[in-house]
Amino acid sequence: MSKYETLAEGLAAVKIDGARYHLFLCLGPDCAPLTEGELTWRRLKELCAESAVPVMRTKAGCLRVCTGGPWLVVYPDGVWYGGVTPERCERIVREHIGQGQPIAEWIVKRHPLTGTA
Ligand code: FES
Repeated sequence: MSKYETLAEGLAAVKIDGARYHLFLCLGPDCAPLTEGELTWRRLKELCAESAVPVMRTKAGCLRVCTGGPWLVVYPDGVWYGGVTPERCERIVREHIGQGQPIAEWIVKRHPLTGTA
């Protein structure tokens, strides 16, 4: 049984229309302890809900780096943050998402995607 009756309801729940960022957080267990990842995810959810900027967020099972996590990837910017904590989420959401200013000293890799669609 599906959570939503229609596809339109499901897409509305994702808040895809108007979203400016899509955040993917790996909770572990290979890049970081799952308990740490879960705490970071909970804080990220709260901050995204409070943000004035429309954001989609996805809990990722594994981003295949498998060390130095929890990992947070911010698209469309292609910014990869490692070692993300609940406290670091606060600055990332405030400055990167809210003001468009990535936290340079926490960026491990930057790789914006340039699809053709
Ligand atoms: S478990 Fe987090 S990157 Fe693989």
